[in-house]
Amino acid sequence: MLTSIILSAVLAATPVLSEGPVLREDNIKEVISAMTLEEKCILLVGGNAAKAFDGIGNSEKGVPGAAGTVNGIPRLGIPQIVLADGPAGLRISPEREGDERTFYCTGFPIATLLSSTWNTDLVEKVGQAMGNEVLEYGVDVILGPGANIHRNPLCGRNFEYYSEDPLLSGETAAAMIKGIQSNGVGTSIKHFFANNQELNRLANDAIVSERALREIYLKNFEIAIRKAAPWTIMTSYNYVNGIHAAENRRVLTDILRGEWGFEGAVMSDWGGGYHADGMVRAGNDMIQPGSESRYKALLASVKDGSLSMEDLDNSVERVLKLIVKSPKFRGYVPSEAPDLKAHAAVCRDAADEGVILLKNEMAALPLGADKKVALFGVTSYDFIAGGTGSGDVHRPYVVDLKEGLANAGYALDEGVDAFYAEYMAQEEERCKRINGSSPWFIDRERAIEVVPVEVIENSAVSADAAFITIGRVFGEGKDRDYYHSYLLSENELELIERVSKAFHAKGKKVTVILNIGGLVEMTSWIDKADAVLLCWQSGEEGGNTVASILSGEVNPSGHLPMTVSLSYDREPSAANFPKIFADKPFNYSFYRQVKGHPHHTVKDIDYTLYDEGIYVGYRHFCTFDKKGVLFPFGYGLSYTSFLWKGLKVEKAEGGWNVSVTVRNTGKVSGKDVVQVYVHAPGKTLDKPERELRGFGKTPLLAPGEEYTQEIFIPENSLASFDERVSEWVTEPGRYTFIAARNASDRGLKKKVKI
Ligand code: GLC
Repeated sequence: MLTSIILSAVLAATPVLSEGPVLREDNIKEVISAMTLEEKCILLVGGNAAKAFDGIGNSEKGVPGAAGTVNGIPRLGIPQIVLADGPAGLRISPEREGDERTFYCTGFPIATLLSSTWNTDLVEKVGQAMGNEVLEYGVDVILGPGANIHRNPLCGRNFEYYSEDPLLSGETAAAMIKGIQSNGVGTSIKHFFANNQELNRLANDAIVSERALREIYLKNFEIAIRKAAPWTIMTSYNYVNGIHAAENRRVLTDILRGEWGFEGAVMSDWGGGYHADGMVRAGNDMIQPGSESRYKALLASVKDGSLSMEDLDNSVERVLKLIVKSPKFRGYVPSEAPDLKAHAAVCRDAADEGVILLKNEMAALPLGADKKVALFGVTSYDFIAGGTGSGDVHRPYVVDLKEGLANAGYALDEGVDAFYAEYMAQEEERCKRINGSSPWFIDRERAIEVVPVEVIENSAVSADAAFITIGRVFGEGKDRDYYHSYLLSENELELIERVSKAFHAKGKKVTVILNIGGLVEMTSWIDKADAVLLCWQSGEEGGNTVASILSGEVNPSGHLPMTVSLSYDREPSAANFPKIFADKPFNYSFYRQVKGHPHHTVKDIDYTLYDEGIYVGYRHFCTFDKKGVLFPFGYGLSYTSFLWKGLKVEKAEGGWNVSVTVRNTGKVSGKDVVQVYVHAPGKTLDKPERELRGFGKTPLLAPGEEYTQEIFIPENSLASFDERVSEWVTEPGRYTFIAARNASDRGLKKKVKI
């Protein structure tokens, strides 16, 4: 008798989980009220916590190789959704056990090349292609674009980011988000916010002024979020002014949602943040990739009242709103076979417009494809398509420069070709032994730059011109070492020295090609090269892109998205960036224990002072150090020439219409980029000499063709953030609108009184 009483009492106590409502777009509140506390918590803590909760059983990754998942709750018709990297293309496992199909994804150009196109329409097309692969491989949200400001050239992840300027960065990110999301899949703009170094990235405390945050480090995210409404945002690992970016309620709720009107969901970076309740309370809805301890901590925080049910439900609601938008929820059946060939063509088009011609004297370029080329530089034979870490992509192939030149019709100097064929085979073996299987985080060991003198001497006789490729690959988890990565090595300098001496002695030209993910030092060697082509890491079609530009089949139209300074020490952040530590092993990224609060023990490791404030990149050089520039922000040459005239600045609704007539005065078709900077009166607040407020790229103009480029400058874009009143302020006075080719160009000017 007693047992049956106890049994019935126990049964009554355990809520028999009724079938409950099945999730629809229009019954989210009802579903929330039917969810148990455990179900709410497991929804917010990513797939790696699924084991902690027996109501799911779907802890597998959803798509092999994906970065993570949001747990589903079958009882309520809530499907698991899948999150996968990254900014240069979808990253999932290319092969699966027992499945003869392959799952390669297009390796698009890196973010820095996309911003170098200054062509947001083209970037949107890249997004459309990339988003199609997200959809057809069964992923719901891609963890990109990466959009952190290029504060310093040594940051290991700059290849995943766009620019030193918030407008170019924000507009490029917005185009990417729009393109990707046009497929009905989500994005996750990252890493929000002020995540500008890799060293000690889980615990570094970025000390940034409110004005620099508002005008620079939040501004590009604000532009992208307001313009393109990303489904999700990923917060960054680091602290900002003593608070974890993932636990900052003022930014994640008051500014992001309160001021910018963001309606999507926020997720942490993988292992980011510290206090589970602090994250949810701040408005960081998802704790990725999840763990049992995070789940238990979140559950406990609601039970002990430190996290309110209201805050928990707010995050649950935002995650359910994300889920009901997903292809998974909509029952989309992925083909698992996107059109990689069509996407390769998009990759090619984007790369063609992002390569920057930095120097071209005595018409060294273009070089007719009927010529014989001496192709130097180990990277010519091992072209770098992108960076390492989560921003990597499993591409179906990479076209190196040797192959690209052959495809374009060039003949290769036999002596040079024979040397590299043998040498690269040896180096490949040596590097494989060092790199092991997948050098995911750290930069790979690469072939050493060596060429016997006689090979150079002989080719100076037999070849018509020389191309030298200099390569750099690095990535997530580690910043670049000034001595071993930013500077060229002795071997590289010697190679350039010897080749230019031998070829110039024969009156032949030398072109240096930079296949790099971030800037290298150029001043010390650039006078030895007749031409310099900055091709960044241009994705799987890189070799074809570079060859088509070298031959003149494509006229380069890329422009610098950052300043190339005369030397590293002229960089405004040089005194406040970890220059010497960067050569430490990659675990320096996880160097300091994360205890939930920053320690200010070691400068540049535990904390980084953003002392340059808003004077980042050209904002610094134009205002304080005009001579510190080798190539200015916005700079880029063409095989043709353009004449600008007839600048007009006309008041319009909510801003100004700026127009300039561009005429192609050269002999070949080409595209030009009109940049509109504004010089504001700095009476009540100090201002940079100029700030980019708009830009536009012309269509392809034939020789003699004219085109009037129109650019709208929104009124509120002229405001500065006045910390004294915590407001955006546009002070009255005379503003000078400057239509310029780059940040150092005097350009065409018009004064406007405001
Ligand atoms: C990483 C990166 C982030 C990436 C995530 C998932 O640590 O910081 O960019 O999306 O983890 O791989």
